[in-house]
Amino acid sequence: MPSRRKMHFVAFLLAGPTAHHHGAWRHPEADLGFFTPEWHEHIARVLEAGKFDSLFFADILGLYDLYGGSFASILRCGGQMGLLDPIPLLSIMSRATSRIGLGATLSSTFYPPYHLARSLGTLDLLSGGRVAWNVVASHGHLEAQNFGLHELPARDARYDYADEVVEAVCKLWESWDADALVLDKQRGVFADPDKVHYVNYRGRRISTRGPLTVPRSPQGRPVIMQAGSSPRGRDFAARWGELVFTLQHSKSDMQAFYQDLKSRAIAQGRAPEQCLILPSIDIILGETDAIARERQAFINDLVQTEAGMAQMSGHIGIDLSRLSPDLPLADMDIEAGSRGSLDVILQGTQAQGLTLGEAARRFATSELCPQIVGSPETVADQLQDLFESHACDGFILTPTLMPGMFEQFVRAVVPVLQARGLFRRDYAGRTLREHLQET
Ligand SMILES: Cc1cc2nc3c(=O)[nH]c(=O)nc-3n(C[C@H](O)[C@H](O)[C@H](O)COP(=O)(O)O)c2cc1C
Repeated sequence: MPSRRKMHFVAFLLAGPTAHHHGAWRHPEADLGFFTPEWHEHIARVLEAGKFDSLFFADILGLYDLYGGSFASILRCGGQMGLLDPIPLLSIMSRATSRIGLGATLSSTFYPPYHLARSLGTLDLLSGGRVAWNVVASHGHLEAQNFGLHELPARDARYDYADEVVEAVCKLWESWDADALVLDKQRGVFADPDKVHYVNYRGRRISTRGPLTVPRSPQGRPVIMQAGSSPRGRDFAARWGELVFTLQHSKSDMQAFYQDLKSRAIAQGRAPEQCLILPSIDIILGETDAIARERQAFINDLVQTEAGMAQMSGHIGIDLSRLSPDLPLADMDIEAGSRGSLDVILQGTQAQGLTLGEAARRFATSELCPQIVGSPETVADQLQDLFESHACDGFILTPTLMPGMFEQFVRAVVPVLQARGLFRRDYAGRTLREHLQET
């Protein structure tokens, strides 16, 4: 019997109180130890025991302060903040694990290519080839102002620049041949200079000479993740993304995005299975469906509408304190901000007739992505249905309780999916790219 197509799982982390669900950190069982190495080691071990393809840190290079012109709401409500730098956190997690992928969000707009190639290359080398780079072109003027610019460049210009940055970084990663390191003490040959090359990359806006200082890592090129949603962002994702993650409100929204992005990848000359598409979902588990629904009501009640308004403002680049919370949000052109976030808000607003205030609460729970709620069997049924309806290649799991949700999911749902032949029982390969290409 042919083996079944397998799901892929990636855990969404943000180094602060909130990943997506703003009630999660207020839950009585939440462990708020994220300023300690042990907390990160524990989560990495749990996810690796669950055979996740990867974990990754989202990141924002500053505190969202558009809502009412202040960061007060985000800080007070414990909103989305990348409080800590992902790279040292991933270094800690890599030491606690041996197989799981380790993804870092790093901005192509603000970090220079040589720095990106060196930092990610070092981690890929030391982790045995488990690194992913979530390439973001960044979405806030506040980030630009932290890096010496008055404002963020326009969207298409950011992506044009990002294309050059990724081209340059990939060339730097290739500047050492795989067999350039010799390490021959007898002959006194450390490395073969003929196997280390200048890059001499010259784009329209950036250039770098190379070679990189870091020898070739086991993956050669760390995995590229992407989350662009505007037409230009989707083309960028289709060109580079091996793992594309997305916010979609419903199964039919997921299917439309899936079809669109796979077609764009094919148009770029890529095989569709080289570009995996993972929508974000929340999971809330209970011993029975009824218990899970009670838990859902409890945890969603912990969300503060103000957090949602501040969060949405930061994501879409508009100060929503100026709009009425009693009217629905209308579509608009945004040059800064994330089209993916605006799209999912509009999807939910239209499908469910939400006012801005209601949409804000939903944004602060699951960013209007599905909450999948029930017993382990019910949750597995729903994941299977989405997976088999060509809505996705797997899922980005966002925590509704840290680290409890991941622990429960690994203990209760992963074995059900494994028994159904829908998820790996063990890692077949060593590198992240091998996990992603497992069929
Ligand atoms: C699911 C999802 C997650 C994202 N995570 C981040 C992030 O962690 N940091 C960031 O700066 N941008 C993040 N973004 C923003 C995008 O990567 C992108 O830079 C932004 O959406 C602008 O491109 P777009 O308008 O084409 O969507 C995310 C977007 C989506 C849809």
